Amino acid sequence: MSKTVLVSGGAGFIGSHVTVELAQAGYDVVIADNFSNCDETNYRGVCKILGKELPMVPMDFCEKASVYSLFEKYPIDAVIHFAAFKAVGESVAEPLKYYRNNLLSFLNILDAAKHNGGCNVLFSSSATVYGETEDLPVTEQSPRQPAKSPYGNTKTMCEDILRDSVQAYPGIKGIALRYFNPIGAHPSALIGELPRGVPNNLVPFITQTAIGKRACLYVFGNDYPTPDGTCLRDFIDIVDLAKAHVSAVTRMCAERMKEEYEIFNIGTGRPVSVLELINTFERVNGVKLNWKFAPRRAGDVVSIWADPTLAGKELGWHAERGLDETLKAAWEWEKHLAGI
Ligand code: UD1
Repeated sequence: MSKTVLVSGGAGFIGSHVTVELAQAGYDVVIADNFSNCDETNYRGVCKILGKELPMVPMDFCEKASVYSLFEKYPIDAVIHFAAFKAVGESVAEPLKYYRNNLLSFLNILDAAKHNGGCNVLFSSSATVYGETEDLPVTEQSPRQPAKSPYGNTKTMCEDILRDSVQAYPGIKGIALRYFNPIGAHPSALIGELPRGVPNNLVPFITQTAIGKRACLYVFGNDYPTPDGTCLRDFIDIVDLAKAHVSAVTRMCAERMKEEYEIFNIGTGRPVSVLELINTFERVNGVKLNWKFAPRRAGDVVSIWADPTLAGKELGWHAERGLDETLKAAWEWEKHLAGI
C-alpha cells in the first residue's frame, strides 16, 4: 500500500520540487500551505508535471486545531516540514515573527504526531547551523555554532525540539536534512524559485538581473581569504535536493533508520565561489550580466561546503546534476516566468 506524505509548505520552492519527486516515486502527497510567501504558480506547475491534481489544503501550521484535523483527515505516514520563514535579514529585524512562526508551526506538527501515536518527521534544516568554521568540509559531527540570525537560531532550535521529541515520545522518528545552498529549477521549467520583492539569495538575483528586472548584481565582498576573494558555497541542485527527501522518507517508512533521530548533510561536496557561479551562468546561458563588487554583507560566512559521505552511505544519495545544467534550468525558469 502506498504511503502518505504531508508536505507543509508544499507550494514553495523546495516543497514543490520535493512533492514532484515523492509523487513520481509512488507516494501519495498531501500539500498544505498558507501561501504567505508564494502564490499558486508552483502548485499549478506541480499538477501539470504530474498530470493530476494533488490534494492542497490552504492552512496555517501555527493553528493547532487545523494541524490536528489534517492528521485526522489523512493517514499520514510521514511529514516533511518546510512551512517556515527564511529571510535572514528580516529575521534580524523581526525576531519574534520568526520565532513564533518557525517554532510554533513545528511544535504543532509534533504535538499532532504525538497525539496520533507517532509519525516519521523530516525537518528541513540548514548548513547555517555550522556557523563560521575553518574545519572544512563540514561533516554531521562538526560542532554546531551559535547562529548569526534568529532565522538560523530557529533551525538549531527545531533540530533540538525534534531530537528531544523523538527521545520522549515513542513512535516519533526524525531526520534533519541540513541543506547547503539549493539552487536551480525543475527541468520542465514549470516550477522554481519565486522570491517576493528583491531576492536575498544569489541565483534569483542573477536570473532577475539577466532578464532585466534588476539593473545590477552586487557581489558582496572581494577581499575574503579565498582563491578569488569571493565567498565559497556548496550549491546543490534543487532536483537533487528533492531526491534526497525521497531517500530519507523511504528510509523512515521502511524502518531502515539506524537511530531514531538522524542528521544528514545534503550538498555536493564541491566549493564554488560567487564569481565562479556568475561566470558559469554567463557561459552556459550565453548572457552577459551587469555586476559589480560591493562591500561584504553582514552575517555572511566566508566559506562552507559539505562532506556528503554519510548521505551517500546511508541514503544512497548523491548529487547528480552538474552546475552547468542547474544554472541552465534556473535561466529557463526565469524566462518561463517572463513568458519568453
Ligand atoms: C542563506 C542562509 C542559509 C539559507 C540560504 C537559502 C545564513 C548564513 N545563510 O545562505 O541558511 O539556507 O540563504 O535561503 O543564514 N551574494 C552576493 N550578491 C547577492 C546575493 C548573494 O554576492 O545579491 C553572495 C553572498 O554574499 C554569499 C553567496 O552569494 O556569499 C550566497 O548567498 P545566498 O544565496 O544569500 O545564500 P547564503 O547566505 O549562503
